[in-house]
Amino acid sequence: METATHEPRVTMDEIPALAKRRGFIFQSSEIYGGINGCWDYGPLGAVLKRNVKNAWWRDTVELRDDVVGFDSSIIMHPLAWKASGHVDQFHDKLVDCKTCKHRFRFDHLKDPAKCPDCGSKDAFTEPRNFSLMMKTFVGPMEDTAAETYLRPETAQGIFVNFKNVYQTARKRPPFGIAQIGKSFRNEITPGNFTFRVREFEQAELEYFVPDDGNDMAAFEEWVALRKAWYASYGIHPDRLRFYELTPQERPHYAKAGSDVEYLFPWGWGELESIAHRGTYDLDAHMKLSGKDLRYFDEASKAHYTPILIESSAGMDRTTLTFLIDAYEKQRWTDDKGKPSERTVLHFHPHIAPVQVAVFSLARNKPELVERARTIERELRGSHRTQYDEGNIGQLYRRQDEIGTPLCVTVDYDTLEDAKVTVRDRDAMTQERVSIDGIGAYLRDRL
Ligand code: GAP
Repeated sequence: METATHEPRVTMDEIPALAKRRGFIFQSSEIYGGINGCWDYGPLGAVLKRNVKNAWWRDTVELRDDVVGFDSSIIMHPLAWKASGHVDQFHDKLVDCKTCKHRFRFDHLKDPAKCPDCGSKDAFTEPRNFSLMMKTFVGPMEDTAAETYLRPETAQGIFVNFKNVYQTARKRPPFGIAQIGKSFRNEITPGNFTFRVREFEQAELEYFVPDDGNDMAAFEEWVALRKAWYASYGIHPDRLRFYELTPQERPHYAKAGSDVEYLFPWGWGELESIAHRGTYDLDAHMKLSGKDLRYFDEASKAHYTPILIESSAGMDRTTLTFLIDAYEKQRWTDDKGKPSERTVLHFHPHIAPVQVAVFSLARNKPELVERARTIERELRGSHRTQYDEGNIGQLYRRQDEIGTPLCVTVDYDTLEDAKVTVRDRDAMTQERVSIDGIGAYLRDRL
């Protein structure tokens, strides 16, 4: 049996290298030199991100009877962005270094008088507002009448549809509307791999509660639920914290706010924001559109504007978090005194892109290959599987590096005893399991 010792954690050179090598994430338009702030998910990355989104959707929508799903358009009426405040206020302060001509977000500068790239002192231009909204044109005319934006958050699509949803889904507050979708922000300084990007996906839950004095309890409940969500998929608790925003840090209308932060290799970074937004959003859309979005309560025969609790998580950041959190480099000496090493991703089985790899120990033995292929085909209906064959040591290393929890090997003994070897990714232990019982065994383990 192999045993391993553990080493210090990951650097930000290792993650993009592994992501590229194994087909998780590639630079967008790489053959043209790439485009800053945009990334493509390869075969394993696409499944990984889908699993993260599915886990969120399952726990936030499907397993609850008080949340409904939603999917609004990316392009909305430009007035929606006027009402939301984005047109007037969704800015970052930008400065240019007059010496090296590089551009920075003013609030990201460690020393507001010194350029972090060329070291020049007092060489910055005055900070000026830079809109994060990505403009586009709808229809054949590129004039201001046709101008609108790619959404910078998915939430506004939910707010403008609040009445449509509660009436058709026959929901009364407290209830929530959830959606996952693309958002776009023209970030001044995208960076840290997929952490700060210009095109990303958000998973947003807008939970509407009556103004009956229980709104803060609902906020606290969502904070606790979101805390439990990250823990339930194995995110290390020491690398996760919930930062409570001070009144100065919150928007003026927000009664409470909590940021979920993860300890990335470069320091703490925001994964999600949870906020008590009062009635601000519905009020703003009612004012500009002139339409009544209040809830009509049949029991009291009265209209009221529900209070909003929002949980807004970035799916690219969460996917990156799962990748970083799962990463481990291990070195050890085997039973014969030979030094060995591996890179392993300890993904939760629900998150892992491949759950079971099935191997034939030899490529050139049709009876082994056929047995292994048959087992893999049969397992496909209930698990995410992959078939491979060849050198067993190399096969294990490859699956460890993509985070496959269990490997099943058909070997020469299989032909005699109708059993396969199941190898555990984390413990690196092996056990023999009969082919007849492999389905039940894997269901139990995964
Ligand atoms: N509707 C509320 C809202 O959008 P936010 O704090 O601006 O709140 C929520 O964004 C989440 O969206 C963030 O916590 C982050 O995970 C993700 N996010 C925001 N900007 C991002 C960017 N440029 N790149 C990747 N993810 C981003």
